[in-house]
Amino acid sequence: METVLNPMRGPNRLKLGLFGANADGGLALTRVPERWRAEWAEMVAAARLADDAGLEFFLPIARWRGFGGETNARESSFETLTEAAALAGLTRRIALFATVHVPMIHPVVAAKALATIDHASGGRAGLNVVCGWSPEEFACFGLEMVADRYEQGQEWFEIMSRIFSAETPFDFTGRYFALRGVFGRPRPLQRPGPYVLNAGFSDAGRNFAARAADALFTTFVEIGSSGAQIADMRARADAAGRAVAVFTTCHVVCRPSQAEAEDYYEHYAVAMEDRAAVDHYMANKERFTRSHDPAAYRLHRKRFVGGAGTYPLIGTPERIADELIAIETAGFAGVGLSFVNYAAELPFFAARVLPLLTRAGLRG
Ligand SMILES: Cc1cc2nc3c(=O)[nH]c(=O)nc-3n(C[C@H](O)[C@H](O)[C@H](O)COP(=O)(O)O)c2cc1C
Repeated sequence: METVLNPMRGPNRLKLGLFGANADGGLALTRVPERWRAEWAEMVAAARLADDAGLEFFLPIARWRGFGGETNARESSFETLTEAAALAGLTRRIALFATVHVPMIHPVVAAKALATIDHASGGRAGLNVVCGWSPEEFACFGLEMVADRYEQGQEWFEIMSRIFSAETPFDFTGRYFALRGVFGRPRPLQRPGPYVLNAGFSDAGRNFAARAADALFTTFVEIGSSGAQIADMRARADAAGRAVAVFTTCHVVCRPSQAEAEDYYEHYAVAMEDRAAVDHYMANKERFTRSHDPAAYRLHRKRFVGGAGTYPLIGTPERIADELIAIETAGFAGVGLSFVNYAAELPFFAARVLPLLTRAGLRG
């Protein structure tokens, strides 16, 4: 396989990708009949549309249980290491992330799987590290959440990284892992390894990103106040002597008119919410994570229905391009996008919004 430049390391000032297209519902918790079913063929279609449109990344979510309610959203989701390996042969340029749960996937397995994806894709593999938050998912593995999930994440990351660089087998003794004679070949094509995101929001999550990741993948409530979050992340990265970018995620309704976009948003994210699933999701997220600003839970139920609590980009191509420009100006280096129906809605977004971002100098 010919090596290509991983577009995550390319020159575009604002990188864009699809987030969540491997799971039913995507990021939404809605009952509308056109909601995303995440069947294999349509997920591949979405990945290829994104690849052809020049988006930089395809980023899946890692889920092991649904959220209940009428739709039991996310009950069906493709496992992300095997999905990325399969997409390697079905796409040409786009970076293919695997979202890997630290407590569930052993680092020796993850290192070998990521190296495999990197070889299969010519150097397009990416890793999104998630430390996990749902007790129901931990229970599937007979696990309980550890008190300091990011300390476990740090050990996990160190083991994986050493596999990528070690010349000889090594031992590792930590609080969570005690391993003997660890080694892995082949190495990934990318050096020192695949591009690394860490999905998190809390202080501990940001500190982990400062030490380990190429970018923090995080949420925000308002564009105007997000600059402080980015400055905070930069300060932590500076203290660790590293450069760490900040990526975020938004849900999108892009339509020819503002009224059309807002009407559809109201329809799928209010009138057609999957109430029990939303209640369950919001309660557990608030209880077990610091993934969102606490105010978000009280102010923005619609955003949790619309896109798992992410920021909404709702409106005309011009309006959405302006907001993406403001997001880049605030300091974000990339945005993972979700749609109610990725394959149906991405073409209009790509045709109408991307040229505006190119004109603004954010993308080539
Ligand atoms: C943008 C974003 C995406 C995430 N994606 C996933 C995911 O796909 N699967 C998962 O189990 N957790 C996911 N998480 C949860 C985090 O990995 C983390 O376990 C959780 O947010 C708790 O850490 P925190 O308190 O630092 O946010 C995500 C979090 C954020 C902020």
